[in-house]
Amino acid sequence: MRVGIVGAGTMGRVHAAAYRRIGVEGLAAYDVDPVKLADFASEEGAEPFTDYPKMLAEVDVVDVCAPTFAHQQLAEQAFAAGRDVILEKPLALSVAQGEQILRAARESGRRLFVAMVVRFFPQYRRARELVSRGELGRIGVVRLKRVSFPPAAAWFRDPAKSGGMPVDLMIHDLDYARWLLGGPRRVFARMSRGDRASALEHVQATLAYDDGAMVFVEGGWAYPPGYFRTSLDIAGDKGLIEWSSDQPVPLDTLLPKDAPPPKLGLPMAGLEENPYETELRHALSAFDSGEPFAVAPQEALEALRLAIAVRESALSESVVEVA
Ligand SMILES: NC(=O)c1ccc[n+]([C@@H]2O[C@H](COP(=O)([O-])OP(=O)(O)OC[C@H]3O[C@@H](n4cnc5c(N)ncnc54)[C@H](O)[C@@H]3O)[C@@H](O)[C@H]2O)c1
Repeated sequence: MRVGIVGAGTMGRVHAAAYRRIGVEGLAAYDVDPVKLADFASEEGAEPFTDYPKMLAEVDVVDVCAPTFAHQQLAEQAFAAGRDVILEKPLALSVAQGEQILRAARESGRRLFVAMVVRFFPQYRRARELVSRGELGRIGVVRLKRVSFPPAAAWFRDPAKSGGMPVDLMIHDLDYARWLLGGPRRVFARMSRGDRASALEHVQATLAYDDGAMVFVEGGWAYPPGYFRTSLDIAGDKGLIEWSSDQPVPLDTLLPKDAPPPKLGLPMAGLEENPYETELRHALSAFDSGEPFAVAPQEALEALRLAIAVRESALSESVVEVA
């Protein structure tokens, strides 16, 4: 299967490295910036294309790692050329754009995989498995955190191009919350932004569910350079799961003494593989076999809808109904 990477930036390189480890040969690459494209091609061993349609004619799968504002056009062109598409998250900048991408995939008869990588992190997968097996009982409270320094590329800092922090970064945890518990009824979020030009958005969002469950999601781009912290903490009436990137132990469970011993184990096997590699291996294998993706396009759209609702709530300082 020949893969063409679109976007010779950070994620293009992360994906190229993952394809190398998977053993994918004959990578192709396209970027609007010829200098970045040439560097990428020589460093990643890809065939460079300065013309997108020409690359589309040469590959089986297009992997869009370009900035979010370009996702719709690049994906739609690929579908029109009869190619399957891997698209970095977030799906798009608006629900309408996202719906158009999903429609273009359906109408072309091609497949779309949206790369929501957190679903491929072993700790997050394992925690979700325990929740769906009922080992924690009824879930009451979930806390998810993902805080980082501001991204360097200028387009991230313009919400019209990236969607802002909730759509770009917090979407990982919003998707995870939906994967655990389904969609919330309403959201309320507060944002601290520093000055407008700095993009130092830091958001605390509360997701309220019909059954009384609450999810608190914290996300931000206001940490000092180099810092990236994530954590999850899921409380049910039978037990609790905690994990934090600050802890040496990948995943910790606190279950009552009379419960069967946790079958958790430490997800060491999963940690041996880079989650981007797990994710792309899954996508290629699903393209090949026709099996369903671990992330359905509609789920990526619903995560985007929720992220936009969070941003809307933070900006309007009011509760936003989601469902
Ligand atoms: N899954 C994750 O963990 C993760 C992390 C970071 C970024 N992302 C997502 O990946 C995407 C890319 O982010 P990045 O950090 O690699 O950005 P980046 O700025 O590092 O790289 C983007 C590249 O795309 C090129 N480009 C711009 N417009 C283009 C177009 N129309 N056609 C082709 N190439 C174009 C740029 O020249 C640049 O080389 C974004 O959607 C972002 O939200 C995902």
